[in-house]
Amino acid sequence: MGILVNEQSLTFHLQAKDSSYVIQVIDGYPVHHYWGKKLRSDSNLNNLANYPENAFLDRLPQEYAQFGSGDFRQPAYQIQLEDGSRVTELVYKGYRILAGKPPLEGLPSVYAESDSEARTLVLELEDKYSGLTVYLNYTVYEGFDAIARSVRFANGGKRQLRLLHAFSASVDMLNKSDYEMVYLAGAWSREAHVRRRPIGPGGSRIESRRGMSGHQLNPFVALASPKADEDQGEVFGFSFIYSGNFAADVEVDPFGSTRVSIGLNPFDFAWNLPAGESFQTPEAVMVYSNGGLGDMSRTYHKLYRTRLCRGAHRDKERPILVNNWEATYFDFNADKIESIAEAGAELGIELFVLDDGWFGKRNDDTTSLGDWFEDRNKLPNGLKDLAERINSRGLKFGLWFEPEMVSRESELYRAHPDWCLHVEGRRRTEFRTQLVLDYSRQEVRDYIYGLLSRIFREVPISYIKWDMNRCLTEVGSADAPPERQLEIGHRYVLGLYELLERLTAEFPHILFEGCCSGGGRFDPGMLYYMPQTWTSDDTDAVERLKIQYGTSLVYPISTIGAHVSAVPNHQVGRYTPLEMRGDVAMSGNFGYELDLTKFTDEEKEIVKKQVATYKEIRSLVQQGDQYRLISPFEGTETSWMFVSEDKKEALVFYFRVLAEPSAPPKSVLLRGLDPNLDYQIDGEGEWLGGDRLMQAGLKIEHRTGDYLSRMYRLRSRA
Ligand code: DGJ
Repeated sequence: MGILVNEQSLTFHLQAKDSSYVIQVIDGYPVHHYWGKKLRSDSNLNNLANYPENAFLDRLPQEYAQFGSGDFRQPAYQIQLEDGSRVTELVYKGYRILAGKPPLEGLPSVYAESDSEARTLVLELEDKYSGLTVYLNYTVYEGFDAIARSVRFANGGKRQLRLLHAFSASVDMLNKSDYEMVYLAGAWSREAHVRRRPIGPGGSRIESRRGMSGHQLNPFVALASPKADEDQGEVFGFSFIYSGNFAADVEVDPFGSTRVSIGLNPFDFAWNLPAGESFQTPEAVMVYSNGGLGDMSRTYHKLYRTRLCRGAHRDKERPILVNNWEATYFDFNADKIESIAEAGAELGIELFVLDDGWFGKRNDDTTSLGDWFEDRNKLPNGLKDLAERINSRGLKFGLWFEPEMVSRESELYRAHPDWCLHVEGRRRTEFRTQLVLDYSRQEVRDYIYGLLSRIFREVPISYIKWDMNRCLTEVGSADAPPERQLEIGHRYVLGLYELLERLTAEFPHILFEGCCSGGGRFDPGMLYYMPQTWTSDDTDAVERLKIQYGTSLVYPISTIGAHVSAVPNHQVGRYTPLEMRGDVAMSGNFGYELDLTKFTDEEKEIVKKQVATYKEIRSLVQQGDQYRLISPFEGTETSWMFVSEDKKEALVFYFRVLAEPSAPPKSVLLRGLDPNLDYQIDGEGEWLGGDRLMQAGLKIEHRTGDYLSRMYRLRSRA
């Protein structure tokens, strides 16, 4: 593994676990030659892509597509010089190879824990005329088929430059024009639905212009061979570690070359680069799989779970929580909260989370964001007292915040009306009766830091839910000069990252969970600071099958918050059995979000069993390898399974939304087992070979009724 360089032909061979990525400098340009199955270290890789000599740039498979000199496809960057021109020519100057992976200052990124697990290639390109140097960074991991890419622009000239566009990665692939695009699309409470469509001449873009990654499209795209399915076929994944406006382009040119590029959205963006300064793009993580979408997902899961998520909770089993949002909404007091916590303690629940409504005068969603002081009407003895009471019942205490927001109706807004994003003389658009604080300003972040850190110090808090319930509008800052206004969208995200870094570093014992009206900011950027996310405000078990299936395309199961809620479901009005709600939520990072005091005795017994079972299975669910077996997007059934690293244990979930009359006998073909091991199911009966279970399937017993769910635990002989 590593980075092999042929100094004569200027060929760079990046070898990951089972894949290779090859770049060659030709006529001064870094040319993309190959990305796919691993090539031999001693292979002759000279002009692998059969680059036509003296071709226009438009036909050159480039590593970082030039702008302004004859490549008419989507450029990787665009820069304006002081004279108004936009032409630059990036020519190869040199390279460096670093052991390990340097962090990206101020930005989330995947990391290496030791110098031996990764190598980083830095290609240096320069535009002599302007004095601009561009560094293309490629980190290749020994243990993953993953390459992390980012770019740094350094203005070494004498005049100011203006960056108009700066993608993080761009790859020109040959013979892929018949491939298909796979991505995640949705809406609030319907996040992460898997979409797949053919590509063809012309371009397709998925993007966000909302100031956050968004419910609508996730910052991820994969190119999959038409034959690729869950288990086989070539897939190229592109995931962007960023939480604001992004764009991912797939463009097929007239010569059959496919350019995939991903990075900051050039929409409403520009960055001034004075002489001597530099700009670092966020990072894109590219994953190669020759084993279908399932294998791609498992690479992302492990890489993101162990080399993106950080902190004391990264490898720990996550607590089973109960959250009071759907139980009480804004209508609660300390006694009510304590009664839910008390019921939780009886059931074996480990963490109580107090959601929205505990501060200011927050009795509905029209007021008080920014006034992070407990409401003594609801909590007469204060937060600390409540937290201690909950602790004394054996549960940890967690608290909800929405720190990026301000209500017009708040002390904070009255004191600092210019602290929100806005444009002078224009209306301030409200969503959910709230405005967005201007996190591009240090003083705003410092103020919020002061309020939050005081509470974190005074109250025995173990968990924080960091919510964010609207997109960005009137993106402007009272603090920035006119020429910097186009930087504000990105500076907002950088400011958010800075505050999160500060708080998570200072309070490492706190487990942070991200949230954005559910999954509106379920992206790798947030996972760097907060190792779990509230996946969707939709807690209906049937809807969750699709949402959790789709989310698992990229994101590790340990990051996917999943709760059992009441029926009829508050989002769709559906009645599903408690068993199914439990099984769906136990397929993720498990909790409850309903009034536990209202359970009947029979329900209590079911829940006690769920809680006890999850404690036994959670390390397998949260840290095992996930195999998706039946897609909810194709019919009424869904199935997925989790396998331990040593393959001695597995857990299979099967769901059937609607009963089928006269259905044939049902078996599900399992994956990921050891064909040579024998497994016993649920500790009973016969021993079945891993080969049989994978080739002939696991029998699902016949049962009638809708909303069926089953969990099977498989153990091999010790
Ligand atoms: C949106 C979140 O997704 C919900 O879980 C809840 O915390 C509400 N906000 C509270 O306002």
